[in-house]
Amino acid sequence: MKFLTRWIAPGMLLAFGLAACQTSSGQGQGQSNKAARPASAKMPTSTYLPPAAREKIRKTMRAHGDDMTVLMWSIIFLDTEGASEFARVIKDQPWLERPANPEAVPADERVPEAIYVLQEQLIQRANVLAGLADGLEKQRAAKLAEAFGQVAQTCVACHAAYLYESKDASAKDVSDELSAQ
Ligand code: HEC
Repeated sequence: MKFLTRWIAPGMLLAFGLAACQTSSGQGQGQSNKAARPASAKMPTSTYLPPAAREKIRKTMRAHGDDMTVLMWSIIFLDTEGASEFARVIKDQPWLERPANPEAVPADERVPEAIYVLQEQLIQRANVLAGLADGLEKQRAAKLAEAFGQVAQTCVACHAAYLYESKDASAKDVSDELSAQ
């Protein structure tokens, strides 16, 4: 079960990536089974966050999907330079700033604490991945896949925190849940 939880997120991403790749390479070749594949994956809308708060987060998210796809293929091909570069692109992009005085933020612009925590976790995990890719010896390739899995897990955890309200989604709950996996 532990194994399953650890690999399910990267496994899903891999499946999406492969589907996207096959779809684009099959374009114009008249493949008969093309219609059966979904054109792309789509992020649903939050069930609870007001539009103003969502808009704040969306701005930081735009490029993530593309960067993650290149990162995934760099790792699959053991292109360590690409892996290091794209892990850094993810880590260094503009992120949400924590407000100095959270009480002063209008209620409909407030972003849940869990989202800030997961943002910090993503930066940290992308940094670990970049460092590993820099010093990679071939026999440690599996480590790279594992570190990628950790990054993907944080993407999924944050999207879950965005989509579904959790009454006790405090910083502590989120990190406890993640470290229990
Ligand atoms: C800090 C929380 C957080 C983390 C970490 C996070 N995301 Fe997101 N992401 C969001 C939220 C919130 C949205 C939805 C914003 C909206 O459309 O309202 C989103 C939307 C997206 C979108 C759709 C963007 C669009 O324009 O519709 C993509 C693609 C995406 N994320 C990819 C990723 C990937 C890949 C990772 C991991 C490398 C990741 N995200 C990590 C919070 C996060």
